[in-house]
Parts: sequence; structure tokens; C-alpha cells
Amino acid sequence: MTRLTAAALLAPALAALGACGAGDGGAEGAAGVGDPYFPEAGNGGYDVGHYGLTLAYDPGRPRLTGTAVITARATRELTAFDLDLVGLTVGEVSVDGRAARWRRAGQELTVRPARPLARGAVFRTTVAYAGVPRTLTDPDGSEEGWLRTPDGAVALGEPTGSATWFPGSHHPSDKAAYDIEVTVPKGHQAVSNGELTSERTAGDRTVLTWRAREPVAPYVVTVAVGRFTVTRSTVTGLRDRPGLPSYVAVVPSEVPAARPVLARIPAVLRWEEGLFGPYPFSSTGAVVARRGLVGYALETQNRPVFPGAPDTTTLVHELAHQWYGDSVTPRTWRDMWLNEGFATYAEWLWAEEHGGDSAQETFDALYRTDADAGLWAFPPARPSDAAHISDSPVYERGAMVLHRVRRAVGDTRFRAILRGWATAHRHGNADTADFTRYVERAAPGTDFGAVWADWLYGEGKPKGG
Ligand code: TRP
Ligand code: ZN
Repeated sequence: MTRLTAAALLAPALAALGACGAGDGGAEGAAGVGDPYFPEAGNGGYDVGHYGLTLAYDPGRPRLTGTAVITARATRELTAFDLDLVGLTVGEVSVDGRAARWRRAGQELTVRPARPLARGAVFRTTVAYAGVPRTLTDPDGSEEGWLRTPDGAVALGEPTGSATWFPGSHHPSDKAAYDIEVTVPKGHQAVSNGELTSERTAGDRTVLTWRAREPVAPYVVTVAVGRFTVTRSTVTGLRDRPGLPSYVAVVPSEVPAARPVLARIPAVLRWEEGLFGPYPFSSTGAVVARRGLVGYALETQNRPVFPGAPDTTTLVHELAHQWYGDSVTPRTWRDMWLNEGFATYAEWLWAEEHGGDSAQETFDALYRTDADAGLWAFPPARPSDAAHISDSPVYERGAMVLHRVRRAVGDTRFRAILRGWATAHRHGNADTADFTRYVERAAPGTDFGAVWADWLYGEGKPKGG
């Protein structure tokens, strides 16, 4: 479901062909989609529509066994194409039911189908795999991937960790629907995205199936295996999603601290729906893993993952990402501020409307920081490198960009922009140029020249806060 234009896809595809190695006439899909920070993430030449993952995890060993059935459409003729997969052992690979040749190099699993795939063809790749999945250390030093816990594991995938537990096209530009089946020891749960469609126990094993219909970017796909206290309920009072199902899973030790905060999910969603427009997904909830699992929360689709009971501000942030990040997804990792700037600004607005500082006060306090502070290290729309895509220029200075837009257009138009942006790119991908164009059209006659030049793209601390 990528929205990359043909030209955008082709340029990196051609550039990567040489690097791909086994050239046999130029009909090989590219090893990446040309992301400026993660060049090997995703793959060129096809567009995934659906992943069917059948997984079994035994926390004691701790071994994962999987079969991935990947339905994709070729965007060009393909004699071979790549999947991303980090670690694990591949058993068999087939395309449309016929055994395919394959080989691995780094994170690329190159598949050569028995017959070339025609441009436009919808094809189904099946990969059987197994092993002990690994944890990745990001360029910024944080951990992601398949994270083991005392009684299970939590899979977190921003920006690339999803490739540690299933083969696919692991880039935010290739969103797809998912069906995920997980077999776990009886007494354990497996929580994922979308809705739980069945749960059955036979002998000493429980099989759970999860279905996510709306497009999901790989970095917000999750599976959490372990012993959780599960609360299922219905969120009332949403204008656009009456009776939205909620599935909340909390590690028992965090239940007392998490309960009062997670009880605010309906109130936060109602407030965000009022500001951002219709909630984009068919269910909500949360996963609260043990404290210290990782140093961050993640906006996994439908139900964010928190390392320990969150505070209300973090809940507001991760739920705001359901609109900004999960539904409107960055086209590349360079556009991260479109996630984090909006989610951070949601925190500011929540404070402003719930008895805390106004957004202007928050802005002013940040603006007072010295010119050599980390906040001004690089422009929000141009992180210096992959190690810095989660730094404060992306979060706080990104939110400051939005505040400058608000000041330029006034509150009424700004609200229309928040909502209109989420609606215009709902379930799609967007980049910074789409954003500036959208804002300019929404406020004809307003001059955004200095906002873009100084706040969004400018090096250093802008003059005149
Ligand atoms: N997106 C997460 C949040 O702010 C934070 C995060 C986790 C992150 N892993 C990351 C940001 C990797 C950038 C890159 O809610
Ligand atoms: Zn965030």
C-alpha cells in the first residue's frame, strides 16, 4: 500500500541495483526504498497488501517459529525481489505455491521465483522460518526488536526492529493489513494489533488470532507474549466510532499504578477526536509491559506499548500518534517530526485545556534555552543523521513549528489544519513538503516563509521567538 510515486520508487531502485549483486538483466527489485537514514529498509519493486503471520513462541527456550504469507503486487517486472529479515533461520520459500530459490546477505533475503513476475501481478510469497529472535540496538542507542521478558517477549519495531521477527518490506512507506496468529503456552496471552478474532486452548497451548484491517506500517506492528491482566471494554461517546472495542493488557505488577491512568483512554480519545477528527482505527487499548523493558513508549497501532504504567501525558502522546504517525505515516524517516512534533503538541494542548501551562508558555520556556542547547542542534525537518531522529529538535522544536503555524493562522484555522491534515492523508503516507503545501492551501494569503525557513528547515536557534 505504498504511496511512493513511481519516480520516487524507481530512482533508488535503479541506484540500488548495482549494490544488489546478482544482476541478471535489471528485473530485480531493489534492496531498499531509498530512505535517507535507513537505506536498506523496505524493498523496491513491489507493494505489500497483506501479511499473514503464523507464529509460535516458547518463552522458555526462547524460540520463535513462523510462517509468513506475504501478498504483494509487483510494481515492475521482477525476476527476483528482496525481503528484509534480521537473524533467524529460513527454511522454505515459495512464490504462488512453487518453491523459489533464495539467498541471504545481511538483512536482505533475496527471493528468485520459479517464473518472473509480471508488472502489476499480485503474488504470494510464503517463508517458513525459526530461531531465537534478536534485539537490535538503534543508532541512537535504544533497544528494539524482539525484547525478552521473564515470561515472554514484546516486539517493538521503531524504526527497523520488525525485521527481527518476520520477513517483509520493513519501511513506513509500505503499509499493509495484518493477520497474526500466535501460539503460546497455556496461561500466557499474546496481544497484537487490531482485534482479537479467536482464542482457543488445546492441551498445553493457546492459539490467539489478531486481525488488523486498516493499513499498518511495520514499525507499529507488535506482539506481546506473557502473563497479562486483560481488560476488555467498550469506549463510549466517540462521535465517529460508537462502541469502539478496547483491549488492555497489563503485567500484573503494574496493574495498581496503570489502572487509574488507562481509565482515561476514553476521555483522551474523545478529546483527541474533537481536535484531530475521527479516530482512524477499529479498536483501541494498551499494553503495559514491565518497567524498564525499554526507555520509551511506542505508538504501536491500536494499542500503544508502555514500559510500566504511563502518566497521562504519555498516554495523550501515544494516542495522538494514532492519528499522526499510525494513520498519517511519514514517507521516510526524515519526516519523523510529523509524528513527534504533532504528538508533542498534543501534550501541550492537553495541558493548555486541562489547567496546565498554555502552549505559548511551553513554547516560551523552550525558547529561553541557550542557543547552544540540543534543542537547536538541527532543524526538525532535517535530522543530522539516523542517531538523532528521536532527539528534541524532532519532538520539541517540531511542536514549536506547529505553534508558529498556529500563531500565523489563528486558533480557528489551526484547528482546521490539525483535523484536515489527519483527514487528507488518513491511512496513507506524507512528507514535510506535503505538510507545508497543505498549510499554505489552508491559509491562503498567509506568509509562512519565515516559519519554514527559520523554524522548520533553518540551522540554529531562530531569531525572534
Ligand atoms: N515514537 C516513540 C514515541 O515518541 C519513541 C521512539 C521509540 C522512537 N523508538 C524510536 C523515536 C526510534 C524514533 C526512533 O512515542
Ligand atoms: Zn512520540
